[in-house]
This record gives sequence, structure tokens and C-alpha cells, in this order.
Amino acid sequence: MTRPGLHSLTDGRGLLFGGDYNPEQWPEEVWREDAELMRTSGVNLVTVGVFSWARIEPEPGARDFGWLDRVLDLLAGAGIAVDLATPTASPPPWMGRRWPETLPVDESGHRLWWGARNQFCVSSPVYRERALALVSDLADRYAGHPALAMWHVGNEYGQFCHCDDAAAAFRAWLRERYGDLDALNEAWGTAFWSQRYSDWDEILTPRRTPYLVNPSQRLDHRRFGSDALLAHFRAERDVLRARTPDIPVTTNFMGFFKPVDYWTWAPEEDVVSDDHYPDPADPLAAVRAALTHDLMRGLAGGRPWMLMEQATSAVNWRPHNLPKPPGRLRLESLQAVAHGADGSCYFQWRASRSGAERFHAAMVPHAGPDTRLHAEVRAHGAELRRLAGVAGARVESRVALVHDWPSWWALEEGDLPSDRLDPVERLLAHYRPLWERGVSADVVPPSADLSRYALVVVPNLFLISDRDAASLTAYARGGGVLLVGPFSGIVDPRAHVRTGRFPAPLREALGASGEEWRPVDGPVGCRWSDGGAFTAHTWTELVRAEGAETVAAFDDGGPAVLRHATGDGAAWYLATLPDQDALGELTGRLLADAGVTGVLPGLPPGVEAVRRGPVLFLLNHGGGAVRVPVPEPSEDLLTGSAVAGHVTLAPQDVVALRPC
Ligand code: GAL
Ligand code: ZN
Repeated sequence: MTRPGLHSLTDGRGLLFGGDYNPEQWPEEVWREDAELMRTSGVNLVTVGVFSWARIEPEPGARDFGWLDRVLDLLAGAGIAVDLATPTASPPPWMGRRWPETLPVDESGHRLWWGARNQFCVSSPVYRERALALVSDLADRYAGHPALAMWHVGNEYGQFCHCDDAAAAFRAWLRERYGDLDALNEAWGTAFWSQRYSDWDEILTPRRTPYLVNPSQRLDHRRFGSDALLAHFRAERDVLRARTPDIPVTTNFMGFFKPVDYWTWAPEEDVVSDDHYPDPADPLAAVRAALTHDLMRGLAGGRPWMLMEQATSAVNWRPHNLPKPPGRLRLESLQAVAHGADGSCYFQWRASRSGAERFHAAMVPHAGPDTRLHAEVRAHGAELRRLAGVAGARVESRVALVHDWPSWWALEEGDLPSDRLDPVERLLAHYRPLWERGVSADVVPPSADLSRYALVVVPNLFLISDRDAASLTAYARGGGVLLVGPFSGIVDPRAHVRTGRFPAPLREALGASGEEWRPVDGPVGCRWSDGGAFTAHTWTELVRAEGAETVAAFDDGGPAVLRHATGDGAAWYLATLPDQDALGELTGRLLADAGVTGVLPGLPPGVEAVRRGPVLFLLNHGGGAVRVPVPEPSEDLLTGSAVAGHVTLAPQDVVALRPC
């Protein structure tokens, strides 16, 4: 992300605006209309070629670049930059027919066929070879083309395979990790159920079995799966970088997408980009989006990222697809910008008339440009021009939330006291009261340098390494305020239980420890020590204070929330899942302990406030008009109007206030 000599995407362009463009689905006269419409809509970047493998390579080894030359020339002529995709996410049918070993295999040993997309296996040498041959010809052809601004590798990497090639690759990965079989047997705890391996060739990816699969094997397989996809991404990326070292490379992420550990991926790309499809029927969509955008900012190391795909209105892949009400497109796009995005793009430019995504909204709907939706797209493209100065600006946070993929994987392998501890939902529950108070938060990995944060929230870290536990301990002792949620610090990186009172590696920092997990069905009564009752749900623990003070207790007297003054800071422990109101109260106490306040006090419900660089974004996600106090005389960059004292926001309205 900081490679020297890298071409900037926003210099001379401002914020990026555009979408996936699939001209191979249309005759050429439509391309000309597209380019003209894009120009007048303020589009400055389109992603081309994501699914064009069969068009470029109609039969093995053939190349047809003529059409793509014409598309890129046309776009260059219209002043529209291209994010050119390697088309390797959907091999042509000839690939699977000639080389069935390139097709993915599921846990049951069934091969998955062509006729959709994604029918490839990254562990297949044939797939790798043919993909790289195509990528290198693509790079040779378009290196130096005036439209080329970015490379888009593949699409939404995220699938695993259980074929023999994948098993062989898994073994190679395990040899690298463990060296010998004794170490592997120890790490996987194969003394259990007679699982001891006596030969490397006995080791398989976790295929379908008669009963519960070894959790350590599954955890390693998840690590391997993420790494195997990454190895393929890197192979394509390296071909591109060798030809065009100054052109940034990205691949589109999918938010909190479980199969791929984005903390290991993000440093391997030049631009972090994300696909985000909030459900218009989800009442928490705005908070979820904010959290996901903050994850992207975290993945980008605080630098700008871009929203690669979102829908202008309804998607086609939920069972019942609500459209976005008028104004939502703008609100959601500006929300991403407020959270650090330098680009807001869509899937896709023109709605497909055939294929599985015929009923997915687009920037140009089936009804054409003379539509409400396209008018909204245009208006938004125009107003993004006025935010050009925001490009590159950063969002500063004094609060961090910790999220870790291996811990997520380990927690969701099943066979635990409860399957109701969803780490992403826990993260959201803790994020929400921060968001409601206008407190900006970074999402960071457990290995992050925490020293610049006043408050670090660890909603759940079921799996923790000794090093990360030591870092959290040092953080609290060094003056930080740390909150650790329940069922954290339970297993080591092999998924073996850490014996002793829990959470063993954090026990000293927390000045408290536990001995029993007690999942519950109904609500559980709790009481703050300084007065007031609340309820909790799903999970409780039998814990005792060992130096910490009890801040709240269960009705049976056992501690539910504890605070331990340690070194120059404080470590809090939460032994249950408080209801959302109580979590708000707890968050208020944590913020007070850490001396952190929101960007704007007294925010009306539903209003989001985020400061990016000098610009204060206020976004009304609520259903009614609200009056929000404005801290200093400002200009609303979106409308050019002067604002002082307060601003009134209609539902779904946004202002971007720059002090003047
Ligand atoms: C994304 C994908 C796009 C398109 C879109 C539809 O997952 O990258 O190609 O399928 O979803 O919502
Ligand atoms: Zn395979």
C-alpha cells in the first residue's frame, strides 16, 4: 500500500465513482451510449472484464483482445479510467471439460460443474498455469494503455476445494508449519479418537466424516484455505506488477467474510476495496455498514480504501429483495466516504438483460437513462465532484475494536458450550453504542500496536496467542482501558484449551478468573453495584474477583462486570452478554474511564457523526427530520451553503461540513 512510485488513483480525479462494466454482454452501439452516459454521470472509473475469460480465450490458447482494445480506447477517449480485471473468476466451459481436475470438489467428494461461475480450484496446477498465461498476455497487451488505472485480480476470492490437488497442497502447507508428523499429531491432538497419522498421505482436508471432525484440523484447514487463495492472488499480482509496477493492484473483499483472513491479505494489495450490500430490510444496516467500513479502513492501515461494489437499489440474490428508497443510494455512498473511502462504485453500470443477475439493480436500469434511479445516480456523481478535497483525508480514532479471523474460525467450528456466540454480532453489539455516540472506532487485529488508543474493546477472542495476550496485558498496564468480553482467551492457536482458571493468559491483567461457562436460555437479572438493574442473555460465567472490583453482579451475587486497576490503566471483564441498553451504559462507563468523547455531544437517535480530516459528516439514518447542533460556522461541501448554529436534516439527508 505504500509501494514507491505507485500511481495515485485520485490525483486529478477526486473521489472515484463508477461501477462494474460488462460490455461483453452488449453490442458495440450500446458501448458508445454507455461511454457518453458515463461521462455525463460523472463516472471516472469502471471495472472491466471481470467475467470475460471465455470472450478473450474462446478456445484453449486463442486470444481475442480486439473488442477489449475498442472498449478501452472508447473509455480513454471519454476520460474514464479503467480498473482492469483479470478474468480468472469464471473459466470457460472448455476448461472444465478438458481438465476436470480444475473443477472444485465439495466435502462429500462431489465435483461442482460449470454453468454458473467460480468453478475453479486454486490448488489445481492446470488452472494456475492457464490463468497466469492469460494474465500475462493481458498485462502485456494493456501495460501503458492510457485508460489503465488499476488492476482488479479475480473476484471475491473465497472458496475452498476438497480435491486431491487440494489435499496435496494442504499437506505441503502443514509440512511447512509443523516440520514433522510428530509435531502435527501433537498440534492436532490426535491421541483423541485414534486419529494419529502415521504417514503424510493419510492427511486429508476435512472431508465429510461420520461424526464430529477434529477441531484443530479444521482450524488449520481454514488457515490453509485462506493462504491457498492468497497464494493464487499473489501469483496473478506478481505477473501484473512485473509489467506495470506503477499501477495499483486490488482484489475486492466482502466485509466480514469468514473464509478469508483479510488481515493477512490486505498488506499484499495496493488498494483495499470492498463489496458491500446492505439489506434494505435490516434495521441495523447503517451500523453494520459503518462497522464494515471501519474494518476496511483498518485493513488499509488507516489509509483510504474504496467501495468497489454496492447496489443502486435491490439485489437479486436474497429471497425477497426490497429496493432502496429514494435517497438511500446517496446516503449509503456518502457513509462510505465519511468512513474513509476514496471511491464509491457499484455493481453494475448497465443492468444485464440475460443471465442470473437480470434482476439486479444497476446505474442504468432496464428502463434506461430516463428514470428516477438513473437521475439519482447522476446527481450523486455530480455531488461527489464537490467532495474532491476529501480524497486522501483520514479518520482518527481513539477507540479500537479487536477482530481476528482464526479466533472466529475456532469459535464457529461447533462442539462448544454454545453456538450462539457469533463474534461479528458481538463486535456489532459493542460498536453500536459507540456509533450512537459519534465515537469513531478503528477495527484492528489482535497483533496491532494498541498504544495510540485510549480504549480497546475485545468483544470476543476465544483463541488467543501468548503474544497477543501479553500485548493486551501490557496495553492496560501502560495506561490504556481494556475491555475483554466473555469466552475469551480460552484456546491457544492450535485450538487446545488453556487449562487453569480462565481466561488463563489474561487472568492477571483482569484481576479476575472463572471456572464454569453457563449458557442460559431466558433473560438473566443483573445489578450495577452503584444501583440500577439490567438484564443479560445467552451466556453467563462463574467468575470470582482476584483484585478487580465488581461493577455489576448477577442476581445470584456472582460478578458479571469487573474492573481491575492495573499499572497505569484498567482492565474490564464482562462475563455475560448484556442487553443492548446495558451495553450502552457499560460503553458510557468505559468511555468515561478512558476520557473519550464523541465528535458531537447529544446526537439525536439515528444520526451518525464522523469526522474525516477537517470535514464533519452528519448522516440522518432515522425516519424523521432532526435538528443537529453544529460546533462551528461551516460550509456544507455538498450544497455549498453556509451553516451556523445548527442544521436540520431530513430523513436520509447528509451534510459534509468544513469549518470556514
Ligand atoms: C458480487 C459480485 C458481482 C455481482 C454482485 C451482485 O458478489 O462480485 O459480480 O455478482 O455480487 O450483487
Ligand atoms: Zn481442487
